[in-house]
Amino acid sequence: MKKFHSLEIEDVFKDTDDCVVITFKVPQDLHKEFEFIQGQYLTLKKEINGEELRRSYSLCSNPYNKVWKVAVKELGGGRFSTFANQDLKKGDVIEVHPPEGKFYIDIDPDRSKDLIAFAAGSGITPIMSIIKTHLSKEPNTTFKLYYLNKTTDSIIFREELKTLELDYDGRLKVYHFLTQETNDNELFSGRFSKEKIRSIADSICDLDQMSDCFICGPEEMVFTIKDELIEQGVDPKRIHFELFEVSVPVLEETGGGHDTVDNAVVTAIVDGEEFTFQVAAGTSILEAAENNDADVPFACKGGVCCTCKAKVLEGSVNMIVNYGLDDDDLENNMILTCQSLPTSQKVVVDYDDIY
Ligand code: FES
Repeated sequence: MKKFHSLEIEDVFKDTDDCVVITFKVPQDLHKEFEFIQGQYLTLKKEINGEELRRSYSLCSNPYNKVWKVAVKELGGGRFSTFANQDLKKGDVIEVHPPEGKFYIDIDPDRSKDLIAFAAGSGITPIMSIIKTHLSKEPNTTFKLYYLNKTTDSIIFREELKTLELDYDGRLKVYHFLTQETNDNELFSGRFSKEKIRSIADSICDLDQMSDCFICGPEEMVFTIKDELIEQGVDPKRIHFELFEVSVPVLEETGGGHDTVDNAVVTAIVDGEEFTFQVAAGTSILEAAENNDADVPFACKGGVCCTCKAKVLEGSVNMIVNYGLDDDDLENNMILTCQSLPTSQKVVVDYDDIY
């Protein structure tokens, strides 16, 4: 199991009034462990007012440049994002977990792809990394970005996107959509509704020609776009998405689903050490493991980030929500432990045996 490492902050750059871009100094001996693929994220850990907080932030840099940068947008009431925007400074040290995530497709310099992406607000972060990497490594690939924000001033990476458009000389086209500013062309005002996606497809996006589509933003937006693209005939395999917000605390909302067992005995293997504990009905394996002092990995606790992934070696579970694991993971008995409740009296999960 990969571990958190203390990394020094190399730079903190204010990109908009409420968003900072943080660059980490990754020492040479950690370069291998911190190697990443475009679209992956880092999990940051920090104790704030006596409470340990963990948050995942997507890398926005090109992995081939060996630069580790994330953008953190300040959210009203967000403790970590407020700390990052108001207090974090160059030279500070923060705990960082090596990169993870599956929001990418393979780079193939011999292919000419027509890629598109939809992003909202800080959902641009992994998309930036994806754009930079595909354009720099695939000389014949083109990219169209449909980017939603409230106002012009709130557009994260506005200047950098302009520069990329110029540098790549027609291979990148950015379309800005604003919700709180009017535009002469109504197409560019308002949210990404189903109707809006249809209008985009009719005018500035050739879905027949498109190779792959990336979507990153809040849950509702992501699924609206995905559903509409599928309705328009796009193969779901060509739609890749990342959520940065889930709307409900899922376990509390569902009550844990059917068939779950009360007081199941769970063994969790973490870093070669075995922890055995009981899991009460309605409690996730992750939560019970934490309560029993197992140093289990987690970040979002919402079924999105996959940091809490483990392999079921024995027994069965009910996974309430899964936004992150793919078919291969499921075939290999992987689960998100933050969303999994035992459905057998005995369960063994291994946090080390993952890929
Ligand atoms: S902690 Fe993010 S999916 Fe479980």
